[in-house]
This record gives sequence, structure tokens and C-alpha cells, in this order.
Amino acid sequence: MNILILGSGGREHALAWAVLQNPKCDTLIVAPGNAGIAQIAACADINILNPQAVVDFAAENAIDFVIVGPEAPLAEGVVDALSQSGILAFGPSREAARLEASKAFTKEICDAAKAPTAAYARFTDAASARDYVTAQGAPIVVKADGLAAGKGVIVAMTLTEALDAIDDMFGGEFGDAGAEVVIEEFMEGEEASFFILSDGASILPIGTAQDHKRAFDNDAGPNTGGMGAYSPAPVLSDEIAARALREIVQPTIDEMAKRGTPYRGVLYAGLMIKDGQARLVEYNVRFGDPECQVLMMRLGAQALDLMVACAEQRLDQMSVNWADDHALSVVMAAIGYPGSYEKGSVINGLEALAQDSNHMVFHAGTKEVNGAITAAGGRVLNVTARGETLAEARSRAYDMVNKIDWPDGFCRSDIGWRAL
Ligand code: AMP
Ligand code: GLY
Repeated sequence: MNILILGSGGREHALAWAVLQNPKCDTLIVAPGNAGIAQIAACADINILNPQAVVDFAAENAIDFVIVGPEAPLAEGVVDALSQSGILAFGPSREAARLEASKAFTKEICDAAKAPTAAYARFTDAASARDYVTAQGAPIVVKADGLAAGKGVIVAMTLTEALDAIDDMFGGEFGDAGAEVVIEEFMEGEEASFFILSDGASILPIGTAQDHKRAFDNDAGPNTGGMGAYSPAPVLSDEIAARALREIVQPTIDEMAKRGTPYRGVLYAGLMIKDGQARLVEYNVRFGDPECQVLMMRLGAQALDLMVACAEQRLDQMSVNWADDHALSVVMAAIGYPGSYEKGSVINGLEALAQDSNHMVFHAGTKEVNGAITAAGGRVLNVTARGETLAEARSRAYDMVNKIDWPDGFCRSDIGWRAL
């Protein structure tokens, strides 16, 4: 099978690494890829936000299967275009991708599916939104409806913060994404991520994870795209997970099918767990980053078989082969991230590290310059390890971190604390 993966982060490096373990993979191309991915696969510089460019490239390169990493190409309709050209692709259609691309749409689906989630109201003008939060009081959550690169959610602990967020959103801070605003009840509890494959009718859970959104130790500092993750998430017990599938995920998949826009791909359910019950915080229509890195480390080669079966709509024939193992990933970021940071600093010590089924350094934002690996983004490396226990995975990951010589980078030293 000739395979094309779209994306350029640690998530796509982990997907590429897992796909390459599977003998069914003949050739692998990643577009656009990064310096770490280039060490294991061919990279191609195409505009993945242009569906026709992706179709043309796939046709020219006799691609049999396309795996879409990030949400933006999905929201642009890349999978629709590939399907129309008869090319098998993993990921939802543009319509189904609205489960991530529009928070108001997700709420509408939850209502129809009777899926437990935060109470909410939607607004298209600042004055009525301000009146509503003034009446509700804080804490309260203000969300820009559309895709805002993870920055469109303000968990306001005071009324002033909530009112400021409303003014910013309707003032155009997030462009079109903020033309509509969703205001939600603040939910308390512990968050976890649940990953489920859906072929439009059947579902198959493929793992749980927890990430660390704040930049610094002890959950201090600004919000980021994620500073580390581990799998499984102990808070998502078998019982709570089964109930979440029954009350949230399957009814969502059924509702999407009923509307004629079946959901196919991986559904990432962000859940808030309290008193033995999960409520939906949000859906994403892709793997999480860095959650994908820990999932791939645990799934290995079978990840490809599962994604192909999902795209071919025969998920009911599949099961997941779980080892009783744990994986943990530490994100190394450029100093200054998630604010402004320098690019171009050199990272040493990577060649000496073991790269095997228990140890992998996935590259997120890196670039090769004259043979050296340099930092080219905010989140730069995902140092990932597997072990029989979470403690073992963690000590393996931090042993690797300690051998990486990169004075311009930083990481959290407490990934996994909640579970340990
Ligand atoms: P989202 O982009 O929807 O995942 O929101 C980002 C983060 O904001 C989530 O991971 C939660 O930590 C937090 N959040 C979002 N909605 C709520 C809510 N209704 N109650 C409490 N926290 C929330
Ligand atoms: N790590 C959070 C996300 O991928 O959305």
C-alpha cells in the first residue's frame, strides 16, 4: 500500500512511525513533514489546505490511502475531494468535521443526541451576550464558535474576564471564528481524552489519555497546545468509558448518520469527569497532539489496519489488541512558548538516543540546517517512552530528556503527576 500522511507535527511523526511498522506499507510520503519525519519517510512540500492539490499529488504518486493529521485540511474538504476521486482516506468529510469546526454545531448535535454536556447559549451580538453573562455570573466559559487554533476558549473566573472576552471576540480578535459566540456553564471535575474510531455506523474505542495544557510545572503559566501526555488515563475507568460511549459517543455518531453526514475517522472526545460520570467538553475530529504520540507508541503497527478498516467501513470486524502497558510523552518547547520565541537554535544529543518500541523522540517543529537539527516552532520535540508501568515510562522519557542538549528549550518536569 502506498500511503500519504498530511501534516507536519509530532502527531504526524508518530503516525508515520506506527504505519512504517506495518508490512502492508510499501511506500510512505508525508506532506509537508519535518526534519524528524524526513529521517524515516519521504517528505513532499504541497499545500495540504488545497484539496485539489492533494488529490493531484495523490494521483501522480499512485497513493492508495491518505491519513489526514490536522483539522484544517478536513474543514477544507480534503477527504471529500479524495473520496470523489476514488482515493481511500482516513478522516471525516467537511460536513462531519463541523463537530470541531463549530462549537455551536456540536452543542446542537448534543441536544439532539441527548448527550450530557454543559448548559449553553449562543449569541451573534455583544450586547445580548453581555446581558446573559451578567445574569449568569462567573465562573463561566466564553467560546468563539469557529476554529481559532486552540485560543478561542476563555474560562472566565470573574465577570470582568467574561465581558472582556465577549468584547474581544465580537471585536474581531478571532476573525470569522468569533462572529458567533457560545457561552457555557463552567464544569468542574477532572479532564480526560477518549479516542474512538467511527466508520459512520460502528465505533471502536482505541485508547484514553490525559494531557497537560499549562506551560509550567504544577499546572502554572499560560495555556498551550499541550506540554505532555500519558495513556491510559486512570480517571477514565472501564465503567465510566463504557457509559461515555453509550451516552455521548454512540448517540453522536447515530445523530450524524441520521442527518446524512456520517462521521468517519477518529473522534477525540474531551470529557469532564465528576462523580463517576463524564460530560462532553468538546469534540475534535483528529488525533490529539501530543496524545497521538502516546497512543501510537502503544498501538504500533495495528494502527494502520484499524485506520484502513475505518475508512473501508468495516470496523465491526476489528478489535484492538491491547498490551497492558503505559506510554508517556514529554514536550520540549522553545523558551518563550506559548508567547514569542526564537527559531534556529541547534539541538544536540539526539543521535545517541535509543529509538525502539519503548523509546522514541518524535519531532514537532524541527528543521534540518546543514546537517544539524534546529528548532523551527514552539513545541519542538516529543520525548516519548513506553513501560510496563506509568512510572517506568516516565523514568525512560525523562532519561532521554536529560541526554538532549538544547539550552534554548524547556519542558515540564512533572508530566504524569496526576496519575502517579
Ligand atoms: P476546548 O477548546 O473546548 O477544549 O476548551 C479548552 C479547555 O477549556 C478545555 O480543555 C477545558 O479545560 C476548558 N473548558 C472548556 N469548556 C469548559 C467548560 N464548559 N467548563 C470548564 N472548562 C471548560
Ligand atoms: N492536545 C490537545 C489537542 O490536540 O487538541
